Amino acid sequence: MKSVLFVCLGNICRSPTAEGVFRRRAEQRGLLAGLDVDSAGTGDWHVGKAPDPRAREAAATRGYDLSSLRARQVRVSDFDQYDLILAMDQDNFSDLAAMQPTDGKARLQLFLEYAGMPGAEVPDPYYGGQRGFDQVLDLVEKACDGLLDALESQR
Ligand code: 4NP
Repeated sequence: MKSVLFVCLGNICRSPTAEGVFRRRAEQRGLLAGLDVDSAGTGDWHVGKAPDPRAREAAATRGYDLSSLRARQVRVSDFDQYDLILAMDQDNFSDLAAMQPTDGKARLQLFLEYAGMPGAEVPDPYYGGQRGFDQVLDLVEKACDGLLDALESQR
């Protein structure tokens, strides 16, 4: 079992989008049963909430259903539970690195490394328009495919 946690700031826009896209694409490849997948936010403002309606709508247009997801905050124990913790941007990465236990099992990476874009960020769409959510999906789809390729090649 491989386990993956996607992390952004609020867990209502980018990381639930990544979780929903990753689940669907893993399912299409027959890989979902062997994976433990979740998403979380470094902040706690939106805990318990469903993804932002704009994120849900953009995802639904491409066939991804985010409606069952609920926000939670990342916890130190996630570093023992997950193999991979994937940060959407540099701020998320720094916040995660600051709480990472020295003996945790998780490997912490920027998510877009799997899109072949080392150092790049999934831009925060929260204060922008619908177009930002489509850009998030473009990046997330690319990185999810790269991540699934990497997981498949490890099997
Ligand atoms: P996310 O987007 O980190 O992609 O979920 C945000 C959601 C909420 C806020 C900021 C970013 N906020 O400031 O409430």
